[in-house]
Amino acid sequence: MIENFKDRILSLIEYLPPIPGVINDLIKLLESENCDVREISRIIEQDPSLSVNVLRIANSAFYGLPYKVSSIQYAVNLIGFRELASLCIFCGVGSAFNPPAGIDTIDLKMFWKHSIATGIIAKIFCREFDIGVRENLYLAGLVHDIGKIVIDRSDHDIYSGVIRLTYDDNISVTEAEDKIIGESHSSIGSWLLEKWKLPRMFIETAAYHHLVRDASEEYRELVAVISLADQIARLKGFGFGGDMRGIILTGTPAFEIVRDKNPHIGDLDMARFVMDLDRADNEIFEMEKIING
Ligand SMILES: [Fe+2]
Ligand SMILES: [Fe+2]
Repeated sequence: MIENFKDRILSLIEYLPPIPGVINDLIKLLESENCDVREISRIIEQDPSLSVNVLRIANSAFYGLPYKVSSIQYAVNLIGFRELASLCIFCGVGSAFNPPAGIDTIDLKMFWKHSIATGIIAKIFCREFDIGVRENLYLAGLVHDIGKIVIDRSDHDIYSGVIRLTYDDNISVTEAEDKIIGESHSSIGSWLLEKWKLPRMFIETAAYHHLVRDASEEYRELVAVISLADQIARLKGFGFGGDMRGIILTGTPAFEIVRDKNPHIGDLDMARFVMDLDRADNEIFEMEKIING
């Protein structure tokens, strides 16, 4: 196992660029009880690249509108201000990880595809099965595995070794991380999000998506939904989620937590849901374009 890896990661996190001021304003807004459409539109309009992204999202196939959206206020109303604040925050967070030229990284396209798919599947799952969690699923999906890029940025050779070990020993990515670096992408991701002062729900999603029962009562259901969506995304081969081990959906702690809160999903045909998910393809593709530029 590698010595002092934790210290190395913590100092890397210390030196990552801070998230831009406008993103901080949005985070504060997201946490406040009474933020309104005008306030968030005003913040977004101050930042041209953010405004462009918001309009691209509003005009994407994801919302399937027959007309063009050209006003930020309209886009905010359409997408919902919490969801939109989430997306903008993500654009800011994602850009902090654009690799410097000439540096080797894991396949970032596949990494983001998996994260995007996780957020979108979580949203579809909650909408279709009428699950009590509705907000912030998208951002939670996007950041759940962020620790992986932190590790990779800290030392690409080490993380390549982790991925190789998942294949060679047929173990999960968390087990391989534990063997090689003695920390998991879950805890590392949560340190980063804590440092960036993201709301608690996202920190918990990163920290506990592989150990859902350890999440706090308040966010356990959200974390469980993301954990389920993460498994479905891997099952469907949307992007690269770290390992390809056999996945059983029902009977997992994540499924049980969601079912305890929403007993009606006990009768639902999960296999059918997973099979029918090809309709998420377009949404994933559109979001990928927006995030990968
Ligand atoms: Fe993960
Ligand atoms: Fe994942």
